[in-house]
Amino acid sequence: MVDQFTGKLAGWPNFHSVFQFVKLPLLKRLLLTALVCAAPSVPAGTIWLSSLDLTQMTTGWSVAKADRGIMGTPISIRGEKFARGIGTHATSRFRVKLDGNANRFTAQVGVDDSAGGQGSVEFIVIGDGKVLWHSGVLRGGGAARPVAVNLVGIQTLVLRVTDGGDGEGYDHADWADAKIEMNPGAPPPVALAPYETFSLKTKAFALTFQAGDDGRLYQRPIGMDESKARLPRDDEFYPQAGDGYVWEPALQAVHADGNTSTALVYDGLAQTNETAGIELTSIYLHDPAYPFVVTLRFRTHYNEDLIEEWTEIRHQESGPVTLQRMSSTSLLLTTNVYLTHFFGDWGKEMMAPITERLTPGIKVLDSKLGVRADQFQNPSFFLALNGKATETNGEVLAGSLAWSGSFQCEFDNNDRAIRAVCGINPFASAYHLKPDVTFVTPKMLWVWSVHGLGEMSRKLDNWARDFGMRDGHKPRPVLLNNWEATGFNYDFDRIANLFAPAKAVGTELFLLDDGWFGNKFPRVNDDAGLGDWQANRKRFPNGLAPLAADAVQHGLRFGIWIEPEMVNPNSVLFHEHPDWVICQPERPPELQRNQLVLDLTRPAVQTFEWRTINNILSTPDITYAKWDCNRYLTQPGSSYLAPDRQSELWIDYVHALYALMDKTAKSFPDTELMLCSGGGGRVEYGALKYFDEFWPSDNTDPVVRALMQWDYSYFFPPMALASHVTLSGHRPMHFACCVAMSACLGMDLDLTKLPAQDKAILTGAIGAYKQIRDVIATGDLYRLEDPHQGFRGALNFVSPDRSRAVLFVFQLKDGQNAPVYPQGLDPVRRYTVHELNPAPGRPAMPQEGKIFTGAELMRDAILPSCSKALEACIVELDTR
Ligand code: GLA
Repeated sequence: MVDQFTGKLAGWPNFHSVFQFVKLPLLKRLLLTALVCAAPSVPAGTIWLSSLDLTQMTTGWSVAKADRGIMGTPISIRGEKFARGIGTHATSRFRVKLDGNANRFTAQVGVDDSAGGQGSVEFIVIGDGKVLWHSGVLRGGGAARPVAVNLVGIQTLVLRVTDGGDGEGYDHADWADAKIEMNPGAPPPVALAPYETFSLKTKAFALTFQAGDDGRLYQRPIGMDESKARLPRDDEFYPQAGDGYVWEPALQAVHADGNTSTALVYDGLAQTNETAGIELTSIYLHDPAYPFVVTLRFRTHYNEDLIEEWTEIRHQESGPVTLQRMSSTSLLLTTNVYLTHFFGDWGKEMMAPITERLTPGIKVLDSKLGVRADQFQNPSFFLALNGKATETNGEVLAGSLAWSGSFQCEFDNNDRAIRAVCGINPFASAYHLKPDVTFVTPKMLWVWSVHGLGEMSRKLDNWARDFGMRDGHKPRPVLLNNWEATGFNYDFDRIANLFAPAKAVGTELFLLDDGWFGNKFPRVNDDAGLGDWQANRKRFPNGLAPLAADAVQHGLRFGIWIEPEMVNPNSVLFHEHPDWVICQPERPPELQRNQLVLDLTRPAVQTFEWRTINNILSTPDITYAKWDCNRYLTQPGSSYLAPDRQSELWIDYVHALYALMDKTAKSFPDTELMLCSGGGGRVEYGALKYFDEFWPSDNTDPVVRALMQWDYSYFFPPMALASHVTLSGHRPMHFACCVAMSACLGMDLDLTKLPAQDKAILTGAIGAYKQIRDVIATGDLYRLEDPHQGFRGALNFVSPDRSRAVLFVFQLKDGQNAPVYPQGLDPVRRYTVHELNPAPGRPAMPQEGKIFTGAELMRDAILPSCSKALEACIVELDTR
C-alpha cells in the first residue's frame, strides 16, 4: 500500500537512511549500534514512554514504534541518535493515565531523519485538558528540542503531534528519550484509549461521545464501528454554523456583535440519578470567544431504552443573540438506514407509512403550520438500521419531537454518516435571545429496539403511560359525543333526550360538542360565535349547569367542547378586539373554517383564554373537556410583538399555549381532557402530556381507522387514542365496535335512531369493553398482522402480569379463515379462549371455551370466527 502522504510503500523501511547506515565501515557501525542500544541510566521510578501499550497511540500513517522511528529505523533527529523513544506520524495522539502520581515528563522531540529533511509537525503536551507545553512548528532536518514538563497532580496526560498546518506528508515525528518520572512506589502509568469518550447507556443502547483534539465534542455514529478512530470534523455533535462545518448545522446563531459563527468546545459533563432507572446527563459546551453557553441534556430511561433529549442556550453578550436554528437533537447514524414516516391530510392522518432508504442528500420532514405540528406530516418517524425492520426483527430507532408548532426533522446523509437534525422549524423563526435568559428547545424522544417495531412501541408506550400523557395507567370512560349525530343543530331537549338511551347502552360520559355558545352571534354553524363563550340563551336558557346536572341524574358524567384559541369575525369578541387576532397588516385576513387564531403572545389574550377555560370548566358537573384547534397559521403577524420580533411569534405562541394547557391540567386535576385539532393536528408528545387522550382524525370510518390506529400505535398507547363508533362508511355495527374497542372506545351516534339490533351489538360491545379496557390501558401491544399488507389486521394486548390477553382481528377484505398467532403470552400458563361479544349468527370459534397453554396458543394459533370483509372478532385469553 502506498502512503498517501509520503508516497512510500507502507511497511517498508526507509531505504535512504538504511542505505546510508550500511555504507559505514563495519567498526563504525558496531560502535554506533552499541551507542544507540545502550540504555541511558534514569532515576528510579522512571517509566519509558515506549514501554507503554503503543497500540493505543493514533498515527496519521503506519503504527507507532517503540524505540524506533516510524520507518522502523533507529530514532534519529538531525543526526542525533536515541536508543529510547517513540516514532510516530502526524497526526498522532497518546493518552496516558497518571492518576496524579507523576512528577515530570521529559523528552527530545523533532522530525525523524527518515523524512529526509522534509515534514513539519508540532508537539503538544496536555495535562487534564490544559496545554502544558508546545513546541511550535518543527521542521525536518531541525535539531531535537528538549521538553521538561511538571506533571504534579495531573490525572491524564495527552501527547499530541499535529501536522504543523501543512498536511501530513513526511511528518515522521519522534518523542525521543521520552519518559515519565513517577512518585516512589506509585503504580505505573497506563496507556488509555486515545480519546476521552463517555457514553449514555440504557439497557440495550449506548450513545458514545468523544472529545476531539480541537476541544470540540464528537459523536460516534450509531451503528458504525469507530471504536478507536479519531472522528472527522463531520462527526461533531451539535455542530454549529459558520466556523468550518459545512453540513446541516444543529445551531446557527448571530452574536450580539454580528458574528455569524459559533464554535463550541466541550467543558465537561454531569450525571445525576433522578429516580431508579432514570438519569439526567448534562453536557456543557461554551464558545471561548463569547460568553455563550450551550447545555445538552439527555434524560435516559434505562429499561425503556428511551432518551429525552433537548438543548438549553444562554449567553451574557452585550445585546440579544439571534438564534436562527436551535435544534433539539443532531444524532449521527450509519448510512445504511431506512426511514419510515407518515404523511397524510385532514381525514387521512397517519395512514400512509412511507419507507425509503436514506440516500446521500437531505430528506426533510417538516410543517409550517405554527399552532400545530401536524395535518400533513406527523413529527414521529422511525429509522431502521441495516435493512428494513419488521415487528419482531431489526435495529430500530424511533424519533418523536414533542412540539405543537412548526417542526423540522432533517436527515442529512453525507455518504459517511446520516445526521438527524430535529427541532423547531427554523423557517421564519429567528429568535432574539436576551442576555441571561435560557432558551430551552422542545424535547426529542428517541427509543431504541434491537427486536423490531413491536418492542419499540412497547417501550415507548411504557414511557408514555408514566411521562407522556395524563393518568396514563387509568382506563378512560366510555363516552358518547353528539357531533356526528347532531352537528350544530341541537338545544337542551334534543341533548337531554340522548341521556337515557346513552345510559341504557352503557355510556359513562356525555360529551357536548360544538354549538352550545354565542348569543349575539349564535354558534349555529361554523361561521359565528367563536370567542363568545357564554351558553346560548335560546338553547340553554339557564346555562349549561342544568344540562350537566341532568346528565348526572341519568348516571352520566358530562363533558364539553371548547376551542379557546379561536375567534370568528362574527363575534362580539372580534368586534371589541379586532387587534387580538393573528394576521398580516396590509393583507385581507385569510379565514380557515371562517375563523382566525387569537394572538396568544398578547398577555390580554392569555388572560382572556384562561378566564374562558376556567369559567367553563368550573361549571358544576362538567368533568371532561375536548380542546379543539380547527385551523393553522397562514398569516403569521402579531400586532402585539414589535416589528423586529415578528419571527418569534411561531415559538412564543406554543410556549404560551403550553402554559395555558399546563394551568388547565393542574387546576382541574379530575377533569379529563381530550386533545383535538381539526382531527389529528396535534398528535404529538408536546401537547399530549397535558391530556388524557387525543382525537386522531375526523375520519371515523372503521375501515380507515383500522389502518390509522395501526400507524398511530407505533408511537402512542392505544388507550390515548379516542376511537368512536359512528355510522361513517356505513359499516356493520359489529365491525365498527370491534375496531373502536381496540383503542379508547367512545361513540358518536344518535342512539334514538339506532336500529334495535345494532343497539344490542353496541350494548354488548360496551359491556365487553369494560371487562377488557384495563388490559388495553396497561397491557403490552403486539401487532400481529398489518392491515396495510394483507386482507386483515390483527393485534393482541397482554396484561402486565400476563394473566390475560385480548386478541383483535379485523377483516378488511374477504379472505380465508386463517389462523392468527398471538404473541407475548406466558408460555406455561393456561388460558381459556373466549370470543367477546361475538357477531350474531356466526358459528362459534372451534377453540371457544377450551384451555391451552400460552406456548400452545403461540405455536398452534387461534382460528378466529371471521373470514369475510367487514367481519371482526375479539378473543379474550384468561388464566383466571
Ligand atoms: C373539529 C373536530 C370535530 C368536531 C368539530 C366541531 O373538526 O375534529 O370532532 O369537534 O371540530 O366543530
